[in-house]
Amino acid sequence: MSLPADVHERTGGQLVQRIIYSQEDIATRVAEMGREITDYYPKGEDLLVLGLLKGSFIFLADLAREIARPIHVDFLVASSYGSGTVSTGQVNLVYDPEASLTDRHVLLVEDIIDSGNTINRLVPMLEERGPKSLELCTLLHKRIAPPLAREARWVGFDAPPAFLIGYGLDHSENYRNLPFIASL
Ligand code: IMP
Ligand code: MG
Repeated sequence: MSLPADVHERTGGQLVQRIIYSQEDIATRVAEMGREITDYYPKGEDLLVLGLLKGSFIFLADLAREIARPIHVDFLVASSYGSGTVSTGQVNLVYDPEASLTDRHVLLVEDIIDSGNTINRLVPMLEERGPKSLELCTLLHKRIAPPLAREARWVGFDAPPAFLIGYGLDHSENYRNLPFIASL
């Protein structure tokens, strides 16, 4: 896919290799996922959508508006990467949601599943809090992780094993605001 005319301005002149998912690709898929999530949960039961910051902030903002049922939204912050492009294996919970998970349906929203470390650490921690159900929704899944503590019920795209930026995904905190997803 050809690069948008303003890609140079948007990236500060950095070399972006290739657009992997355009703004339109993403919008179409996020709308589909929103419909599936809407249909999945029983009407009248509480649903807490829990975004994993920072990477999921744009995805969650778009997805939440495609979920056509009442939801609550909260966030948690886990850090697994330093400034590099390879997972360190260390997962720290930097911010814990204020919302109680007990007896509520909880939908954890991730930007991307790479090594699976983050999910494998978080799922048991969240399970301990007694949610009525705990499901995972990720925009991207590299499908390189060994079997996960919990497999994602909703996956936007099976991503190539490249380092991806944009639509919330960063490299050293840069590029989160790109409206498309590109390889660096
Ligand atoms: P995992 O713990 O290795 O599965 O990685 C999960 C986290 O690493 C994601 O939530 C992202 O923040 C980050 N990450 C993994 N792969 C990429 C990538 O290709 N680009 C940007 N961030 C990534
Ligand atoms: Mg990150």
